[in-house]
Amino acid sequence: MGSSDSTCLSHDILIVGGGGAGLRAAIAIGEENPDLTVGVISKIYPMRSHTVSAEGGAAAVIQSSDSHDHHCYDTISGADWLADQDAVETFVEEAPRELLQLEHWGCPWSRNPDGTVAVRPFGGMKIERTWYASDKTGFHMLHSLFQTAIQYDNVTRYDEWFATKLLIEDGRCQGVAAVELGTGQVRAIGGKGVIMTTGGAGRIFPFTTNAAVKTGDGMALAYRAGVALKDMEFVQYHPTGLPGTGILITEASRGEGGVLLNKNGERYLANYDLGEAVDVNDERHPVKRTMELGPRDRLSQAFELERQKGNTLQGEYGDYVHLDLRHIGEKKINKKLPFVRELCQNYVGIDPVHELIPVRPVIHYMMGGIDTDLQAATSLPGLFAAGECACVSINGANRLGSNSLTELLVFGARAARSAVRFAEQNSTINKQAITAQATQEQTRIREQFFQPGKGTETIASIRVDLNRALEQGAGIYRTEESLQTACDQVRELKERYKSVELADHSLTFNTELIAVLELGSLLDVAEAVTHSALQRRESRGSHQRSDHAERDDEQFLKHSLAYQTDGNPRIEYSDVSITRWPPGDRVYGSK
Ligand code: FUM
Repeated sequence: MGSSDSTCLSHDILIVGGGGAGLRAAIAIGEENPDLTVGVISKIYPMRSHTVSAEGGAAAVIQSSDSHDHHCYDTISGADWLADQDAVETFVEEAPRELLQLEHWGCPWSRNPDGTVAVRPFGGMKIERTWYASDKTGFHMLHSLFQTAIQYDNVTRYDEWFATKLLIEDGRCQGVAAVELGTGQVRAIGGKGVIMTTGGAGRIFPFTTNAAVKTGDGMALAYRAGVALKDMEFVQYHPTGLPGTGILITEASRGEGGVLLNKNGERYLANYDLGEAVDVNDERHPVKRTMELGPRDRLSQAFELERQKGNTLQGEYGDYVHLDLRHIGEKKINKKLPFVRELCQNYVGIDPVHELIPVRPVIHYMMGGIDTDLQAATSLPGLFAAGECACVSINGANRLGSNSLTELLVFGARAARSAVRFAEQNSTINKQAITAQATQEQTRIREQFFQPGKGTETIASIRVDLNRALEQGAGIYRTEESLQTACDQVRELKERYKSVELADHSLTFNTELIAVLELGSLLDVAEAVTHSALQRRESRGSHQRSDHAERDDEQFLKHSLAYQTDGNPRIEYSDVSITRWPPGDRVYGSK
């Protein structure tokens, strides 16, 4: 690697991650105090961030038949009571303002014929409150945010820079060390406040809707710096991904009337307890209408049980079922689900207007993340986090579809406001000290990955084994034995990681270097996931233990907190905030 540059770049506030939460934060800093300078570090060009691939929509109360309490209740019961209710109340209250604001920045929300904002049904939401922009909601949201963010002169972008370490001085986070991809140099970038908005880590699993970039880098940075990762055992399967690629077939397909069929052509969800449901007269499928709009954890579990009964189909990429949109008709599919049609045509060679779509549960979202409070602050002074990399927590044990796009807006803005206050009160950056830390970081990376003849392991083999360990040990259903095995395997893989040597020792755009750094993030996140899951001996939401089948509020109505140590992580617990909704049974469907 090249020599570390001795100059220290610095800004008042640093944002790590250029997706929806990061860009919302950048705008909010400009709104709050335009005199502050902002640096946005992103390992990719921001418009390629994973927010762009969100399809179905963003939730916020808008209809007169709806209320904040209804949205709170759906979110909290959907979360199997593990969400912090003060956070949910704040989220629900600020949600409509954020979505309206986004429209003013250019997001073309779909409309009803009378001009009002259109909303569609979504899983676990008893009242329609999912705003959408056709089925390309994330694309339009990210565009609107990006175009707005670049209007602020105080924002400097560091596209294609990869943050490798939090720089902590005087007990405060004062910046990050980051590799500039173009030159291979590690530089210190200072910030009086640092906001982590790096997204989730679905790539610890083999089949996922998540883009290749979702490798948990921000979670790993915080974890290594002593900040807890909260509720990491809760990893969401989305019931309808394409086998093989994992590409998302949006829940909006089911919101618009799509149904799931097993290999016998039966609407098998009728045989599972997904909560209360209502009958409607659907000519083609005259059964329970709300079944496909049950929560994602229950639908994915139903798939697994159906598989065990031998009722799924087998294909090149394992078992799958069918999603049937044919009865919806071409006109409505073209209007409301054009992207779904395009994806099916391009990636499986079928047209959903006339053919069944093969689907299977695929990893979609991490409910857990960097432990933050309501102000998006972490336990490390100066470090804030928002979006999927953070756990505030509004999603508890199972997130409801369409809450996450809104979450990244609400908490991206809140993180920015907190960071602004922090930067105003902590006005110094010890540039000399953080530059020295960045130099050490460059030496560490060079010694670990660039010494000829040192390594025996490859990135690909470790990554494949990691994916397999997680899928087999920490999938839809888990047991003590499967999780213990996964924990042991992750430990072995972390040992093997020490022996990886890169084939490419060049400095200019060395993507292999980025891949190995991402693998390090994946391993740390996987460690937190498997150990948190091992120690939660109950079933709740997306965490289903075959050997502890019941929810156990007495022992486990608690957030888990995973702390990194030299050996296995230490798992502690903290209380869940219950304001107005005492724990009850989860019930879905219209009331
Ligand atoms: O299916 C979907 O469109 C996913 C939405 C979400 O995860 O919020």
